[in-house]
Amino acid sequence: MTETDHQLYEQAVQVAERAYAPYSRFRVGAAVQARDGRVFLGVNVENAAYPLGVCAEKSALTTAVTEGCRPGDLEAIAVTASPCGGCRQWLVELGLERVVYARAGGELVTASPAELLPESFVL
Ligand code: THU
Repeated sequence: MTETDHQLYEQAVQVAERAYAPYSRFRVGAAVQARDGRVFLGVNVENAAYPLGVCAEKSALTTAVTEGCRPGDLEAIAVTASPCGGCRQWLVELGLERVVYARAGGELVTASPAELLPESFVL
């Protein structure tokens, strides 16, 4: 893992404090590194109607797309949790190169979206 990956992960850790997670109390932060140097942050935002909650990864990736990024523009994402199945599909869709995340035990690892979601759905 590179020093840049560690720095990106540190930004994810810091932004996790802003998560809105009154139901699970499980705060997650995500930081997306774009190839042009920009960084987009996201947190999980829960809702009393539970399925309406949004994961930190989707929150950060949605901001990146809103700011003009497209598949291939995003280099890496750091997440303070192991990405859920749905978020893995988002990582494949947007063509991230690298995913830095904390395993359930806390270990920090790097993987590609294809490693996290083999034989993913493509239209
Ligand atoms: N969560 C994320 O933000 N990202 C993931 O990849 C895993 C789960 C959030 C969703 C929910 O607000 C909380 O963690 C507990 O599941």
